[in-house]
Amino acid sequence: MALTLTEKILQSHLVDENAKLPPRGEEIAIRIDQTLTQDATGTMAYLQFETIGLDRVRTELSVSYIDHNTLQEDYKNMDDHRYLQSVAAKYGLWFSRAGNGICHQVHLERFGIPGKTLLGSDSHTPTGGGLGMIAIGAGGLDVAVAMGGGAFHLSMPKVFGVKLAGALQGGASAKDIILEVLRRETVKGGVGSIYEYFGPGVAGLTVTQRSTITNMGAELGATCSIFPSDEATKRFLEGMGRGSDYHELSADEGAVYDKIIEIDLSALVPMAAQPHSPDAVIPVREIAGKKVTQVAIGSCTNSSLADLTAVAAIVKGKHIAPGVEAGISPGSRQTLMLAEKSGVLGELIRAGFRILESACGPCIGMGFAPNSEGVSLRTFNRNFKGRSGTPDAQVYLVSPETAAAAAITGVIADPADFADSLKNNAGLYSVNDPALIKDDSMLIAPLPLEQALRTDIIRGPNIKPCPATPALPDSLILPILLKTGDNVSTDDIMPAGAKVLPLRSNIPEISKFTFARLDADFYSRAKDAAGCFVLGGENYGQGSSREHAALAPMYLGVRAVLVKSFARIHKANLINYGIIPLVLADPSMHEKLGQNDVLRFESIRHSLEKGTDFVLTRESDGMKIIARNDLDERSRKILLCGGLAAWTKSGGQ
Ligand code: F3S
Repeated sequence: MALTLTEKILQSHLVDENAKLPPRGEEIAIRIDQTLTQDATGTMAYLQFETIGLDRVRTELSVSYIDHNTLQEDYKNMDDHRYLQSVAAKYGLWFSRAGNGICHQVHLERFGIPGKTLLGSDSHTPTGGGLGMIAIGAGGLDVAVAMGGGAFHLSMPKVFGVKLAGALQGGASAKDIILEVLRRETVKGGVGSIYEYFGPGVAGLTVTQRSTITNMGAELGATCSIFPSDEATKRFLEGMGRGSDYHELSADEGAVYDKIIEIDLSALVPMAAQPHSPDAVIPVREIAGKKVTQVAIGSCTNSSLADLTAVAAIVKGKHIAPGVEAGISPGSRQTLMLAEKSGVLGELIRAGFRILESACGPCIGMGFAPNSEGVSLRTFNRNFKGRSGTPDAQVYLVSPETAAAAAITGVIADPADFADSLKNNAGLYSVNDPALIKDDSMLIAPLPLEQALRTDIIRGPNIKPCPATPALPDSLILPILLKTGDNVSTDDIMPAGAKVLPLRSNIPEISKFTFARLDADFYSRAKDAAGCFVLGGENYGQGSSREHAALAPMYLGVRAVLVKSFARIHKANLINYGIIPLVLADPSMHEKLGQNDVLRFESIRHSLEKGTDFVLTRESDGMKIIARNDLDERSRKILLCGGLAAWTKSGGQ
């Protein structure tokens, strides 16, 4: 049978080597070849890895990157970095130091290999799909399990084919391709699916262009996106001094996709995602003339040398408009060095760009926020309200070309008007210096086992052990400590922001922010109650995959969450941390139950063992509450075992 590229890679990674791929939607378990973490999620992933108790990672390659919390306002972020470096040394990981670049860009340059699987504790891990990898973002605990040699479980995805024809022209770029896909598919269009690119238009796209597309495929809600591995892949890997990692990969002739989206690249025009959603996409020319106050170029989406070169071509001989603050964060140290060598960097500095660190920075609202009520054009991947660091800013997501045109004109401008500059300067800044490309001095290689075993892990005061999940009794009598409405997000359960982020390795401290947006006293009441339930409405736990939204409640004694419905990833995180996700069989029970009602929850272990529905009783009047047991067998076993870390430690797969 003719297979898509996605199916080929998944098939070759099934844990059960004799199994065939099941129908769409059924669970599969795959082997993970490579993992990556970044510092904001990595500390918890490694604290979890430590609790699993292995002496070395069991993947082919694992890398710990520092790129998110690089500001050193006090000791906390720096202590995290030192912890991560010592963990990498002890357990056999590569370590990419702060300043070496953004995880996804560096991973493309130094480690990505066509046909391999990559699991990363960052939602934009699918960037690796530009190199022909199945690259998936997941929670830190899932990554810890994969580092321990455990399988990654997912529903067999649908495979959507994106057929590209023609060639980009007139100022349109790779960013405009993914913006066009987002315009058509929306931010929910990719749930449970993988987007696989094919067709005659693929050959004209470089690996970094492809990676811009697979990176922002995350905004479709997709599992990941993938391109074939071809001559362009070969050229890229050879350019990185890794030609031996190349092999050709593509879908079989006649492969069948669940649906096909066709895009004629020749007809594509520059696009922009308007505030405040990546799918609010319209052609740039329809908003041309709007005043701009900030331009930010960089992030894991658009910060390759080619991106910076396109910007330099447009701003050559001109200056940043007086009303605009413009900054660039190069994707990696390699990009920065090549930009310097080629003259691109000098052109950017001369034009008036502020050169920021090779890190996430502005993308997470750090170090380069827009002014109040500002209009910021960003080459990034997300523009949700407040993410820029300025709650009332309007953020537009655009290509580097569109951002550059705005930087010099002070208004949103169609880069098609600068097509001649782009064409005339094509290749002007080409660099070919392998000695420079191969400078890996900011990457620290894994130590040999004997030396690694003698390494001590450095734990500053901000590094606290990951709290253990309590054992699961057969009955609990506890109060509903919090009742919420519908659509509670993981941000409501555990906020992000500069105050909270540095505490991600310190659960006792970060737990003080649990539900703080909904109930300022929750933390102290939970401490007093020493065990409780939470009652929620529809779509509980929507939004970011933030696992601290399960971990901190677990630490505060939340034993079960009773809701009308769950968001999928949060439900999985609750299971991973031993909190029982209960779905009300009769949603109207939500109205009948109140905060502080005490519930008796009996035969818990029995219901999990047998897969039968859960029964709870209100102590005050004996009212019965039935919760559906829709958990698969593996999830039930994980809960019985006390969470995913304990399950993995006991040999569970
Ligand atoms: Fe960093 Fe933003 Fe990408 S936070 S990993 S640059 S989405």
